[in-house]
Amino acid sequence: MRSRWQLSQKSIKRAYAAVSPVYDLVFDRIFSPGRVEAIKLMGIGPDDRILDVGIGTGLNLPLYPRHRQLVGIDISGKMLRKAHERIRELNASYVRLAVMDAMQMGFQDNSFDHVLATYVISVVPDPIQVLQEIRRVCRPKGHIIIVNHFKSEHPIMGRIEGLMAPLITRTGLFKPDLQLTPLLEEVGLVPDQIHRVNLFSGWRLIQCSNSKETTPDRAPPKGGTHVR
Ligand SMILES: C[S@@+](CC[C@H](N)C(=O)[O-])C[C@H]1O[C@@H](n2cnc3c(N)ncnc32)[C@H](O)[C@@H]1O
Repeated sequence: MRSRWQLSQKSIKRAYAAVSPVYDLVFDRIFSPGRVEAIKLMGIGPDDRILDVGIGTGLNLPLYPRHRQLVGIDISGKMLRKAHERIRELNASYVRLAVMDAMQMGFQDNSFDHVLATYVISVVPDPIQVLQEIRRVCRPKGHIIIVNHFKSEHPIMGRIEGLMAPLITRTGLFKPDLQLTPLLEEVGLVPDQIHRVNLFSGWRLIQCSNSKETTPDRAPPKGGTHVR
């Protein structure tokens, strides 16, 4: 499942620091249908705890119901600076943001009812580790929603994405040849539904219920955060 081309944390941080001033111009409109559908599917209740992984500049923020327990994390301080500006514009001071690595989150087990990751899973050095962390911090039967581009199953498109992978991966922006099925199998996520979204139906929205045993909460990692 792992391709030869891996993103490095250094190149990701550099890339997103560079694109942060123009990110919204490129990613707002094009990726909006996936965001809207994902947040609608979450079915957020009044007291639900929500984690937005790799929240970036916070383009999802206006779509959530207001006054919810919402936490956003991202590895890029520059992207989060934009998200802070958006929080001010939206008058949404109840949203909490933290610079945090999604591969090693500082939250207690079962801290969230919903975990959303839009356009992030192919932007991390180790997608398996991120999904394992998402499963850990999401409560049993909680909702996990991923929106992302995955390697096409069409033989020609898949081949083109494979050929482009070395070049694009080196930019630190994303990895075009991440395969969906082996990834889900490796982390034991069974989708309730998969939709195709966005331009040319080129992205997939995956909704899963977090099927794990209820375990006693472990202490959060050093410096970790209790939600609620
Ligand atoms: C394509 S952007 C998506 C941002 C946002 N989710 C959206 O829908 O617009 C990918 C984001 O993932 C963040 N990211 C990459 N690696 C990360 C990691 N290990 N932990 C947390 N965030 C990460 C990047 O900094 C960037 O903000």
